[in-house]
Amino acid sequence: MIELEGVTHRYGEGQPPALDGVSLVIGAGERVALLGPSGAGKSTLLRSIAGLVRPTHGVVRFRGRPVTGASPGELREIRKEIAVIFQEYHLIEPYTALGNVLVGRFGHLPLWRVLLGLFPRADRELARRALAELGLADYAQVPVRRLSGGQRQRVAVARALVQGGAVILGDEPVSNLDPATARMVLELLCERNRREGTTLVLSLHAPELALQFFDRIVVLRAGRVVMDRPAREVTPGDLAAAYGVRTPGAPPGQGGGAGIAGAL
Ligand SMILES: Nc1ncnc2c1ncn2[C@@H]1O[C@H](COP(=O)(O)OP(=O)(O)OP(=O)(O)O)[C@@H](O)[C@H]1O
Ligand SMILES: [Mg+2]
Repeated sequence: MIELEGVTHRYGEGQPPALDGVSLVIGAGERVALLGPSGAGKSTLLRSIAGLVRPTHGVVRFRGRPVTGASPGELREIRKEIAVIFQEYHLIEPYTALGNVLVGRFGHLPLWRVLLGLFPRADRELARRALAELGLADYAQVPVRRLSGGQRQRVAVARALVQGGAVILGDEPVSNLDPATARMVLELLCERNRREGTTLVLSLHAPELALQFFDRIVVLRAGRVVMDRPAREVTPGDLAAAYGVRTPGAPPGQGGGAGIAGAL
């Protein structure tokens, strides 16, 4: 479904690479958690997959077709299939929560409907249902600028859910949520994966959530993949080592399990 071949990206001349020779193949229906310390390159990787960042070297392919170097028309087609939950949400401030969720349907509608705000009844229903599932039924008509951070984040998740593409990329999609709500949101995304085979690639800062909800763990550090393994084979000690955290008594590169949650 998604293929990265030797992807390197530098944001500027002479800057260290944000991604450094990343090669990954992600199959249809996989649930991949992307971990790694702040600045490791998680957002850059997700943006490269969505064609929002053009790698300096290497190629990204979606369903065997290059995203890198795709024409604007091809990119539009690719982006219909790839929903992105941005780290900064990218909501339209004056729009209501419902209006923002309906943005997820833009790719499916003729331009005149979008411009006139004439969304089919089925789309409105879909958007309302998504908001309700995310605990925001009472906020559908509220402008997002009046919502809390966690409520906005859930609007961004709802927008991705209604898009109905083959892939959902999420950049720390539960970072602003309390633990119970974070689990509920991940459960919703996983349910979509199980029911419709939607491929999920989500970056997270909570390793325990990654181990609980995902079947594959990829850890980035300084732009490189330092671990890529089935979640059931990953121990907290492996994660500590991948993050470069040394626990007392452990030899270099062999992070211990103790205190991993705090260490990360
Ligand atoms: N727009 C930008 N311009 C210049 N450098 C950038 C830009 N975005 C990211 N970088 C740099 O690229 C590197 C990787 O950043 P990226 O945002 O991909 O990391 P991340 O793993 O998502 O971090 P975080 O967990 O803090 O979100 C960092 O060193 C960062 O400073
Ligand atoms: Mg990021």
